[in-house]
Amino acid sequence: MDEIRQTSRQFQKDLSNLQTLDQLEQLKIKYLGRNGVINAHLMRLKDLPDQDKKKTGEAINRLKAELETEIVKKTHQLAKSDEEKESVDVTLPGKAYPKGSLHPITLAIEEISRIFAKIGFVRVSYPEIEWEYYSFESLNMPAGHAARDDFETFFIDTPADPKLGRMLLTPHTSSGQNREMKRLKQPPIRMINLAKCYRPNLDATHTPMFHQFEGLCVDEGINITHLKGTLDYFAKEFFGPKREIRLRPFHFQFTEPSFEVDISCGVCLGTGKVRGKKCKVCKSGWLELGGAGMVHPYVLKQGGIDPEKYTGFAFGWGVERTFMMKEGLKLDDIRILYNGDIRFLEQF
Ligand code: PHE
Repeated sequence: MDEIRQTSRQFQKDLSNLQTLDQLEQLKIKYLGRNGVINAHLMRLKDLPDQDKKKTGEAINRLKAELETEIVKKTHQLAKSDEEKESVDVTLPGKAYPKGSLHPITLAIEEISRIFAKIGFVRVSYPEIEWEYYSFESLNMPAGHAARDDFETFFIDTPADPKLGRMLLTPHTSSGQNREMKRLKQPPIRMINLAKCYRPNLDATHTPMFHQFEGLCVDEGINITHLKGTLDYFAKEFFGPKREIRLRPFHFQFTEPSFEVDISCGVCLGTGKVRGKKCKVCKSGWLELGGAGMVHPYVLKQGGIDPEKYTGFAFGWGVERTFMMKEGLKLDDIRILYNGDIRFLEQF
């Protein structure tokens, strides 16, 4: 019985000295393990005189139960203080907050602006909710003219203005041409109007909201070589020296002569085929970026500029398509830009 009391005292002492859960585990093994102190007491029971066996056996079992309770209690205490320590441990490294990034079209817009800024084109932006006059009449497309059908348009349900017509969502950035001529009053003009445009279309190559960048250059002696040189410069800067531009004769009411500007497709690299199938993006090896041409004298006059003295060129391209054709980006559906899928967006 003395030895049992001795074990109890020793246990209390050991217990009060330990500080970690690991040490507690060692203590448990020392007292309650198969070769532990309690089992050693039980083994020696058989050596006792019969009349002492029962009383001593009971005392050992009481001690064992007591040790088990103490150990559980201590386990809780240590676990809790570990947690407390953790919540105020100022030496732990901080957790990185998830970082966003600019939308790929925002990056493309910045790059396009930078490229044109280098050759003196000033970036402007004009209203997205615009009058018919700026989008059509000022561009030599009077009401009822068939050419207006090419620019399918969302109209705003408000009263029309007797001079400016109805309000609409800009179907192209060309509405900025007249506004810029009237703002500056006088050439030289070197404008990049980079803005949102709206047309009611939705498929692999169209979204109802998209962006265009409109270049306008008006000065004395501006001719078609300046147009071609400017477009070549942009294509090589933005797409790289391997990509090619081609001009196809076309018709716009507001330029004469007019062209459509194509770039060799970055998905099929001009072949028109991807793994034996027709390329979903271009279908022919070339992708149309938009129009260009020499500013029509009527448009200059509407802007208050003398067409006898000044000439100019203009071009209007889609930002999304221009971006999609950039080397290395094999996007086969333009809608992925605006469906908000973080797995796509976080790659930029
Ligand atoms: N505004 C025309 C379009 O959206 C493009 C264009 C701009 C054509 C400037 C010629 C000159 O299709």
